[in-house]
Amino acid sequence: MVQEYKNQRNLIVHIIMSNINKSRRTFLKKAALTSAGITIVPNFTVSGLGHKAPSDKLNIAGIGIGGKGHANLSGMSTENIVGLCDVDWKYAEPCFNEFPKARRYWDWRRMFDEMAGSFDAVMVATADHTHAVIAANAMTMGKHVYLQKPLTHSIYEARLLTKLADKHKVATQMGNQGNSGGGVRQLCEWIWNGEIGEVKEVHAWTDRPIWPQGLQRPTEIMTSPSTLNWDLFIGPAPLRPFHEIYTPWNWRGWWDFGTGAFGDMGCHILDPVYQALRLGYPDKIHGSSTMVNTESAPQAETVEFAFPARENMEKLKMPAVKVHWYDGGILPVRPDLLPEGENLMADGLGGCIFEGSVDTLICGCGGFNPRLLSGRVPDVKPYLRRIPGATGYIDGPHEQDWIRACKESPESRVEGTSNFEYSGPFNEMVLLGVLAIRLQSLNKTLKWDAGNMQFTNISSNEELRIVTSDEFKVINGHPHFNTQYATFNALEAAGGYIRHNYREGWNLPDMPE
Ligand SMILES: NC(=O)c1ccc[n+]([C@@H]2O[C@H](COP(=O)([O-])OP(=O)(O)OC[C@H]3O[C@@H](n4cnc5c(N)ncnc54)[C@H](O)[C@@H]3O)[C@@H](O)[C@H]2O)c1
Repeated sequence: MVQEYKNQRNLIVHIIMSNINKSRRTFLKKAALTSAGITIVPNFTVSGLGHKAPSDKLNIAGIGIGGKGHANLSGMSTENIVGLCDVDWKYAEPCFNEFPKARRYWDWRRMFDEMAGSFDAVMVATADHTHAVIAANAMTMGKHVYLQKPLTHSIYEARLLTKLADKHKVATQMGNQGNSGGGVRQLCEWIWNGEIGEVKEVHAWTDRPIWPQGLQRPTEIMTSPSTLNWDLFIGPAPLRPFHEIYTPWNWRGWWDFGTGAFGDMGCHILDPVYQALRLGYPDKIHGSSTMVNTESAPQAETVEFAFPARENMEKLKMPAVKVHWYDGGILPVRPDLLPEGENLMADGLGGCIFEGSVDTLICGCGGFNPRLLSGRVPDVKPYLRRIPGATGYIDGPHEQDWIRACKESPESRVEGTSNFEYSGPFNEMVLLGVLAIRLQSLNKTLKWDAGNMQFTNISSNEELRIVTSDEFKVINGHPHFNTQYATFNALEAAGGYIRHNYREGWNLPDMPE
């Protein structure tokens, strides 16, 4: 057996891969060690070598590569991009062309089956509803994961990914690239140094959606193009007929696939708030919006989160804090010190304001360009780790910091700062905001038991009343309204939003203890 190996390194690879395969709980077939001429070097073997031979590169598989995933893979092109998977091969073509040597797939499950031994890590940038099932299965196979934001479509999925990342000791990163930027680090250093005093109110906003929301399900029948596998796009969600309005891009606004403007932008804009104030889980939330229907997110939303007091820091008290979210163009009331004429949407994405007892801090999306409204510039020596080249909202450094972490051994790894231990609970906060919107017809502030992932003040006989269709016509000069509603048991509906029932044939790995 030993003679089969040309050098000692391949022997090490063989032993490690054998051990992985023995211990791996996998639904997939074991694959060959080599594929398409690529040498397989698992991440923890690479980490010990300390030189930069070509084989030190990670082998990365990309899933969902037609939109943001293409930019993410370009940001990872220092490595071997060995596999590409997309359900829409026309939309994916530019990415296929950029990485012509990568094997191409429609179905990530087949790719995982056939290439299991040939990649170390995955980049996932599909629509939100398929993030969890892909990432969870990849981590169960011992693969590192770069996963776009929002991390998941449901709170249960976020909890699962957080626990699986811990269990399998893989390097993870949510794709909120502002998180690697200098702005959020500077802002944390200032706030933790007591520069704005204790914070009891935060306001955060975006002008999104810039895609259709507030829509009813289309009734027009369309045929899916031959370049798109509609069934695979649907994945674990309930099957519905194809319509061109859903993919690419516009899936964001549809409840079955996306999380609306809040889920889309919350993971960028609230990141500095979650990080600087060490928020953890909220205990109360309340949502309000323009008309919500059963199909798609409303056009504009506000949510108020109440967080209990957290552990004080040396120079900063952490009292209970309220975080207010606004989207769809609604902006917070302007603080007195905000100069007249200053445009809160100047960066085109959104921002947030921390109201401290001593000063007020404002920043753009992802913590970009923090400044105090008093005009004072704090004199705090930077001490948090800076990511090379990470300024503003750019792609590349955030991906590269994850690649660095992938190559370090689990025992001594410096995780990327949006690793799932951080971004999992943060993503749960964002998704709770989405639930506050979906449950608003209960007309109450919802109380949240984070440990058990359930609301504690919805009783078993309460009903949700949600619009199914809404029409307005003028007939003979008179306005006619026709609004139809569906009613649902509120506890059951909330339970389904928190933990989805997957379509038959689609499953998540078990939740680790
Ligand atoms: N960090 C950022 O700045 C940023 C920006 C845009 C999008 N995103 C995130 O990236 C993800 C993708 O968004 P997008 O704008 O690129 O959407 P998109 O619709 O433009 O692209 C998604 C791609 O995934 C493919 N896809 C969908 N389901 C798939 C599946 N099951 N298997 C394989 N491929 C599948 C689609 O065909 C498409 O090519 C979302 O989670 C979104 O929130 C992040």
